[in-house]
Amino acid sequence: MSAQKLYVTSPIYYVNDNPHIGHAYTNLACDVWARFMRLDGHDVFFLTGTDEHGQKVEKSAELAGVSPKIFVDEKSQKFRDLFKALDFSNDDFMRTTEPRHQKAVHHIWNLLLERDQIYLSTYSGWYAIRDEAYYNESELIDGKAPTGAPVEWVEEPCYFFRLSAWQDRLLEFYQNNPDFMYPKSRGNEVLSFVRGGLKDLAVSRTTFKWGIPVPNDPAHVMYVWFDALTNYLTALDYPNENWQQNFWAHSYHVMGKDILRFHAVYWPAFLMAADLMPPKQVVAHGWWTNEGEKISKSLGNVINPIDLIEKYGLDQTRYFLMREVSFGNDGNFSHQAMIKRMNSELANDLGNLVQRVLVQVSKNCAQKVPEKGTLLPQDLTLLEKAYNTLDQVRDEFWHWGFNKALDQIWEVIGDANRYIDEQAPWGLKKTDLKRMETVLYTLCETIRVVGLFVQPFMHKTANQILDLVGVKSDHRDFSYLLIPLESGVDLPQPSVLFPRFVEAAA
Ligand code: MSP
Repeated sequence: MSAQKLYVTSPIYYVNDNPHIGHAYTNLACDVWARFMRLDGHDVFFLTGTDEHGQKVEKSAELAGVSPKIFVDEKSQKFRDLFKALDFSNDDFMRTTEPRHQKAVHHIWNLLLERDQIYLSTYSGWYAIRDEAYYNESELIDGKAPTGAPVEWVEEPCYFFRLSAWQDRLLEFYQNNPDFMYPKSRGNEVLSFVRGGLKDLAVSRTTFKWGIPVPNDPAHVMYVWFDALTNYLTALDYPNENWQQNFWAHSYHVMGKDILRFHAVYWPAFLMAADLMPPKQVVAHGWWTNEGEKISKSLGNVINPIDLIEKYGLDQTRYFLMREVSFGNDGNFSHQAMIKRMNSELANDLGNLVQRVLVQVSKNCAQKVPEKGTLLPQDLTLLEKAYNTLDQVRDEFWHWGFNKALDQIWEVIGDANRYIDEQAPWGLKKTDLKRMETVLYTLCETIRVVGLFVQPFMHKTANQILDLVGVKSDHRDFSYLLIPLESGVDLPQPSVLFPRFVEAAA
């Protein structure tokens, strides 16, 4: 595929809470995807940030006894710090309290008003502050929102967006763009929601103050989702004349399943009403549980990603989260599953392979890339398998198949481990030095390819691997896949990639 501009976004996170595994997970998926696409030659813009307005945040600030502004500044910084600790490669960090964002939101609001897509009326109905969402009476279960959030009755003057008028055009849009929602199963839930009938959506509030004021009507602040969704345009310099529409044409919004409806229904409707293109795809992942239990503050089992990094290591955590579940499904975090993957897949399969090969190269090939010599069919089979894996991995990435991409990479690692056992280069040392060099060369070359492939998932370890087999730092994108190692290049001392995780004595 030719090089494209690609735009990948995480949701912007409410700052009422401290960052947890759910936030880290969405961003990690975006980060891994962005890194892969960059290595594959695309120009990627990865956006994340914080959602700082709304009643929920206002209440949290009140509880904390500080002004909303002080509260959001401090909390937003926590998200930045976490994203730095996880080494995310985002190109921008959006805060909805920034002036550039207010400008974009005002512009789109005025546009919708001019186009008669927004009108003033009165709202009466149920609102859940925790979800920052309106619910119909028919949706309530035992007097609560379907999410379990408490609801309150609100009656206030409101501006409404003519969502009902977009029902047919939305259905037509979904039909013409069958890949718009991923995964399909969740897309079907959205379809039945839209088919069930859309009501106009209240897009302003008057009963609190912490929001973007409605232009020319300061008694109203905008509904926080109207404000928040627009952040995806703000970061592309909308509404400046030269805003980056070429990124927008290839925009991928990644989020948890709970907020798909906002992105797949309200957002494309706002955009179409403003005569803007809907995003290319909205991608919903599942939720994590902790040792089988729903994660909640009241259960006290919230997982802090920083604790995971400190306990298991950054690359180990990144690997586990991407490997453990098929993207789109729910997943369970468990200490045992984490250790199993760390010790078997990372320390044994990958770590030992690299260690075994490079220790032999260091001892028996004067710590240089071995002589290639004449490759035999079994060598070529392994190498071809490794090179061809890029096509499969790429295909998985275009379908959010992170764990399947890792399966493909681990197949190559498995083949390399079988090959080393079969070829037994340690025995060849005494019988056929030339052949030993060729076998070790084949293995070093396979390790180079594996190193290239694991970069999006574990860039620190990948760089270590690529350093160990002497790959220049500017020869690490996928355009170098078929440029093999040069025999005779000096190599550094072998070093361990992944120490085994040993349980501390009780
Ligand atoms: N502010 C809105 C998003 C606006 S985007 C224009 C919001 N914020 S949030 O902080 O409440 O949630 C952010 C994301 O965290 C959501 O995608 C949600 O699905 C995800 N998660 C929260 N808990 C989670 C798990 N336990 N597991 C996985 N993801 C979860 O919604």
